[in-house]
Amino acid sequence: MAVKTILRMGDARLLERTQPVTNIHDSAIRGLIQDMFDTMENAGGVGLAAPQIGVGLQVVIFGFDRSERYPDAPPVPQTILINPVITPIGEDEELRWEGCLSVPGMRGEVPRYLHIRYQGFDEQGNPIDRKVESFHARVVQHECDHLIGKLYPMRMRDMSRFGFTDVLLPEMTQET
Ligand code: NI
Repeated sequence: MAVKTILRMGDARLLERTQPVTNIHDSAIRGLIQDMFDTMENAGGVGLAAPQIGVGLQVVIFGFDRSERYPDAPPVPQTILINPVITPIGEDEELRWEGCLSVPGMRGEVPRYLHIRYQGFDEQGNPIDRKVESFHARVVQHECDHLIGKLYPMRMRDMSRFGFTDVLLPEMTQET
């Protein structure tokens, strides 16, 4: 149980593909999840992926009731998602501002699928299978991208819509 250092863009470990978890009940996985929650809460984030704390496994966490980072976002249930698979539903996309704890102080406008299905397992090995849309879908796509070594700037199509949060969105004064 500890707050870990969040790796920042430029660290090669953020660009690696991760391995699936083979034994969800391993105590090391429980410890990893606890570290991830401690780290995410300390940073005030809405999601975190294991590679962001230097662990190359397919584990993401996300969820919040209300986020200061995304004040207009509807709540997303607290979720631990292991070995996730995302399937887009339809081809509709949405372009919205996005940030990342590994890219502190910055935001970019990122296209994401509007509707997705995601599957995986919780920390007890129970299957998760949800169809979601909009911000919930965006968070899942963002976190799962970390598992294949993708950071959100790599998904952007218009780099003129990338910059420092306090310049782009002066109403959001909080550091990321
Ligand atoms: Ni991120």
